[in-house]
Amino acid sequence: MKMAVAVTGASGVAYGVRLMEALDEMGVDYVCMVSEAAKKVASYELGGWKGRCMDEDRLDGEVASGSARFDAMVIIPCSMKTLSAVANGYASNIITRAADVMIKEGKKLVLVPRETPLSQIHLENMLRLSKMGVVILPAMPGFYHRPETVEDMVDFIVGKVLDSLGIDNDLYRRWRPGI
Ligand SMILES: Cc1cc2nc3c(=O)[nH]c(=O)nc-3n(C[C@H](O)[C@H](O)[C@H](O)COP(=O)(O)O)c2cc1C
Repeated sequence: MKMAVAVTGASGVAYGVRLMEALDEMGVDYVCMVSEAAKKVASYELGGWKGRCMDEDRLDGEVASGSARFDAMVIIPCSMKTLSAVANGYASNIITRAADVMIKEGKKLVLVPRETPLSQIHLENMLRLSKMGVVILPAMPGFYHRPETVEDMVDFIVGKVLDSLGIDNDLYRRWRPGI
């Protein structure tokens, strides 16, 4: 599977970092992109951005073209700004351009939005995308698997993203009645 991962400036940069770690561990090939805002949020949440992803202004990246034939893309976390840009085809950076390409090529696009509460604008943008077949997978960790650490909660969301991509994983304990 040829994959693209983008990290934008919503809270929860750790979700993106963990997804990339999991893909590395599984040997899944991917290219990654990071927005300027994500780097800023990472400085607050993780003490800095340590990744080696393409900057958002690299509009000449391979993912900018449908001819590169990527199979799937995940934006994790996805800010409301990026969500709005994707919902409206406003492809002003490599992340929103790559997402635009995934939609026009009919490929899998998964967005992991994070905001609360959600406004009518946010909800309408999500509905618009969902109707196009984009997977809206909010960063809303469950509690039925009894998380003990923040890492457990992050792994729950990353496990759900991998599930939606059809990638086998055991990042979270699956529900069985009585556990
Ligand atoms: C510490 C911090 C936390 C933020 N958290 C969120 C958030 O959870 N959701 C969101 O949509 N925007 C959040 N923002 C605002 C975005 O970073 C901002 O809208 C930015 O322009 C998004 O740009 P990008 O989509 O290009 O990354 C946050 C900003 C900061 C500084």
